Amino acid sequence: MDQKIYGKGRVLRGELTVPGDKSISHRALMLSALTEGETRIRGFLYGADCISTIRCLREMGVSIESREGESGAELLLRGVGLRGLRAPERILDCGNSGTTMRLLSGLLSAQCFDSVLSGDESIRRRPMGRVIRPLTEMGADIFSERGDGRAPLHIHGRALRGISYESPLASAQVKSAILLAGLYAEGESRVIEPGLSRDHSERMLRSLGVPIESRTLSDGRTEIRLRPVEHLASFPNPLFIPGDISSAAYFLTAALIVPGSELLLRNVGTNPTRDGILEVYRSMGGDISSERNRIIAGEEVSDLRVRHSKLHGTTISGALIPRLIDELPVIAAAAAAAEGETLIRDAADLRQKESDRISAVAEGLRALGVSVEEREDGMRILGQGEKLSLREAEIDSRGDHRIAMSFAVLGLLEEPGSFLRIHGSDCIGISYPDFFSDFEKIC
Ligand code: S3P
Repeated sequence: MDQKIYGKGRVLRGELTVPGDKSISHRALMLSALTEGETRIRGFLYGADCISTIRCLREMGVSIESREGESGAELLLRGVGLRGLRAPERILDCGNSGTTMRLLSGLLSAQCFDSVLSGDESIRRRPMGRVIRPLTEMGADIFSERGDGRAPLHIHGRALRGISYESPLASAQVKSAILLAGLYAEGESRVIEPGLSRDHSERMLRSLGVPIESRTLSDGRTEIRLRPVEHLASFPNPLFIPGDISSAAYFLTAALIVPGSELLLRNVGTNPTRDGILEVYRSMGGDISSERNRIIAGEEVSDLRVRHSKLHGTTISGALIPRLIDELPVIAAAAAAAEGETLIRDAADLRQKESDRISAVAEGLRALGVSVEEREDGMRILGQGEKLSLREAEIDSRGDHRIAMSFAVLGLLEEPGSFLRIHGSDCIGISYPDFFSDFEKIC
């Protein structure tokens, strides 16, 4: 499917509640499946990625139903306990979802059955060696069918032992795979990350009674230690999932760059391991205020008020990167509309996402006439500020939801009468099925 975005003349005003957080939705499913009671999940993200996790868990005997609760739609999941998953009869299809594949590979390595994980073309190109290596050190029997460190992955479940793993990457997927395997391992599991990646798994595991500790080491790295358990406690019922800051990011950006705009984004998750975009936009001169700050189910949540602002360029690097990794494409779009140079560094892992996001963003910006220099670990964008004038262009989403949504936002700055065409925009359903209808609500 193609989508045309028409430019200038539109102003964004009003309020929006963005859909549930994708990372938290996956974890809520997997962990409540391992508890022994029923969990009612509210605010769940019905995007294709989370539906892939539902499909895999159902295949292993977990009952998951959507229903209308007293106050709106909810998901009802019946936990099978830590040792209650059933051997799947089919290949587990993770679709496009890296989180499904990497987290499940940790969980499945410790089960007493065999399984195979696969998915779509994009996920079969993504590196899985990053989870195969530590899990193998834990004693797992997990291998890549083609021997190239990519899916399909074959897992022969067996008893594992805890390890101390120094991860070369600040990756929540790698960390979470080890922690899930560690729930079943003999002895303690320890993960050291070069910087703190999103910590939703740790927060949820702690709330389920798992002994887990995190601390910052003297050299700035983060250490997480987990000891195995016999049973998990229960989640609060219902379990609320906050709105996804990675989805809010498109509307935050749109309101900042389109003159005259003001939006209120309600119920956005602002966990400090995820809120790097707020820090960066504020440092670029963005007018974003956080209102009604609160904690819901162990996660920080705020309403965000954002107003059009004159942005200036900045440098984004180091420990900030894991705190905004999925927002970099849309931040690059904002950088095109900011005054002066923006430099993105230390983000080489962006090339290993649903697409090579450095190349996809640079190609799209170039097509629009923005001056951009692609680098191995990021890019340099020369923003034009108010003088920005975009060419009419065709953008290839490369099947990557975040690329499609980032360019949809930038398309709002096309000259009157011109448009930007996004090829393959249906991939947006991976994380934000109602993106265009939400867009229309506030435009
Ligand atoms: C995610 C972690 C990040 C992120 C991805 C979701 C998660 O990936 O990019 O969209 O839910 O754990 P990495 O762990 O590979 O950095």
